[in-house]
Amino acid sequence: MEPYLHGAARDAYDAWLESTVARFIPPLTFPEVRKGAVALSSLYVERREAGRLGPRALEGRGKRAAFATYYAGLHFLVAWHACELLGDAARSEVTRVVDLGCGTGAVGAAAGSACTARILALDRSGWALGEARRTYAAFGLEARTRRASLPAGLPRETGPGDLLAAGWVTNELGDEARTRFLDALFAARRRGARLLLIEPLAGPASPWWKDEAPRFEAEGIAARPLKKSLALPAWIARMDKAAGLSHRPLGARLLVG
Ligand SMILES: C[S@@+](CC[C@H](N)C(=O)[O-])C[C@H]1O[C@@H](n2cnc3c(N)ncnc32)[C@H](O)[C@@H]1O
Repeated sequence: MEPYLHGAARDAYDAWLESTVARFIPPLTFPEVRKGAVALSSLYVERREAGRLGPRALEGRGKRAAFATYYAGLHFLVAWHACELLGDAARSEVTRVVDLGCGTGAVGAAAGSACTARILALDRSGWALGEARRTYAAFGLEARTRRASLPAGLPRETGPGDLLAAGWVTNELGDEARTRFLDALFAARRRGARLLLIEPLAGPASPWWKDEAPRFEAEGIAARPLKKSLALPAWIARMDKAAGLSHRPLGARLLVG
């Protein structure tokens, strides 16, 4: 099994994860965070029809702690390995990562570190933006955060040098908003921006994906699954076991390029 990260990236990741866990436990206990992880998993997979996915995901201290320490830890690793698929030449062109629906900043931090780029982060949750600022700082990344609702809040002037990173956010948008969001991302890509879009591997968690697949092809962008068998960080392996969830292999659907 492959190590989850190597060298300086691993040191920075371990320090970030350890300090994030220490901010939540205490005052919370491990069982409270585990309960939050189970509730989030059930929300995204089984209870998504009830709507308002984003706000419901951030309700309650246990869910927030699970989001910041467990899912963020996993999302960082997926985004890091997805960035490897971009290739050295493309990564070296990126000067700014636009972290769309940044949550606690895991995807932007991974892409910003992999590309050595600054960050512009957008989310509609003030709590998430506060967490994201801590995450980018933990990786020594220059970052600006902005409270914004997608797709309306997408920055207009995106193009060459930008990597538009949308991690696990597209499935939270309603049908009309998602169409406008994807239209804007593909238009930015035609202007020369790069795209990293990450969604859950499970079909029911990304119901829109198969309908849009012909468009990916028409836009000439590679849609691929990521499946990596990684030796996971101890905290994540412990939470996986306690919550009855498995991230071996670590998987996601990707649009990269
Ligand atoms: C599942 S989280 C993913 C966060 C982060 N990208 C990651 O991968 O860890 C989705 C995030 O998108 C944000 N979000 C959902 N819908 C949004 C919208 N319409 N505009 C802005 N942010 C939104 C939520 O507040 C939440 O922080």
